[in-house]
Amino acid sequence: MDDVVDESTIFETPLLEIDLELDADATVYAKAEWFNLYDAPYGGGSIKSRVAKGMLDGAEQRGDIDSDVTLIEPSSGNTGSELARLAGARGYDVEIVMPDNASEGKVNAVRDAGAEIRFVDADRGYDAVIETCEEVVAADPGAYFRPNQYENPDNPGTHERTTAREIYNATDGAVTQFVAGVGTGGTITGTGRGLHDLSDGQVTVVGFEPDGPLHAIDGLKYLRSDDHYHPATYDESVLDRKEYVSTAAAYDCARELRERYADRELPIADPGQHDTATVKKHLRVDGQFLLGTSAAAGAATVTQLDRTGTLDDDDTVVFVLCDRGDKYADIPLWEEYL
Ligand SMILES: Cc1ncc(COP(=O)(O)O)c(C=O)c1O
Repeated sequence: MDDVVDESTIFETPLLEIDLELDADATVYAKAEWFNLYDAPYGGGSIKSRVAKGMLDGAEQRGDIDSDVTLIEPSSGNTGSELARLAGARGYDVEIVMPDNASEGKVNAVRDAGAEIRFVDADRGYDAVIETCEEVVAADPGAYFRPNQYENPDNPGTHERTTAREIYNATDGAVTQFVAGVGTGGTITGTGRGLHDLSDGQVTVVGFEPDGPLHAIDGLKYLRSDDHYHPATYDESVLDRKEYVSTAAAYDCARELRERYADRELPIADPGQHDTATVKKHLRVDGQFLLGTSAAAGAATVTQLDRTGTLDDDDTVVFVLCDRGDKYADIPLWEEYL
């Protein structure tokens, strides 16, 4: 059981400058979110470390939880592992409802943190994972507390308070576009709101979703048809633009970046709360620059914006590297490299 969790590494993640070989001369920065809990096993933390902390702190401050309840949450991985790590270390029992095709690294991270896992047949779709969690809670409401990343205002709220300000400050207010994928919509809603406020509406907020229901971009939700559960945490009115991205484009982009940075330094535009040596040490896996699948989709979306003539030479684009590639050692993206 992994009960040593250093919550102080959460927030203030590094900003990297990335060359996506765009036609426009725009500057592109990427926020490396695996530096949240970077020392944790199975690829460190992710963008969800922020949200897990935000929801737990909020619940504790409001007195919503006590040590007798079991925390339960549906998750394809990152929220599950981050909640399991943080809540486990704070002394709570944790149960995570996961699709049975979740990546091995994420399953191991949840198990390693001492949480119970309830698997749901992935063929039933992700909505069945959420429904199963609802059924378990309904059967014994007093026994469980569900942070509920799909409805909890602390999810977008944490991004509004932290991610937005970090990006604004690290770019000295130069950011013109913010690009993020939609799972719960917490990142794009909260960070988008915060950046709109900080910039007096000058930042263009671009959300992206998978282009089809059978995608393999972890953490993102296909929402294009009305018969899918629409998270309350996703406020589409915050978006100035929406893009749809394919799994193939995302994976191609990730492989190109791996090659591009095989022998090339990755400029650290802002190390965040870390020292440069720590950032360099945890940027790569086995010397390789390997992105997680939604990070890859972010890079593909910025490239797509460029190809469609949406970017100007003086733009400063920020996208999010939600997690690192070693969380996906057992999927087609990286299995031959790890
Ligand atoms: C790897 C990864 N990327 C992106 C997202 C989507 O972020 P959000 O839920 O804030 O929309 C998630 C959510 O679980 C994720 O795990």
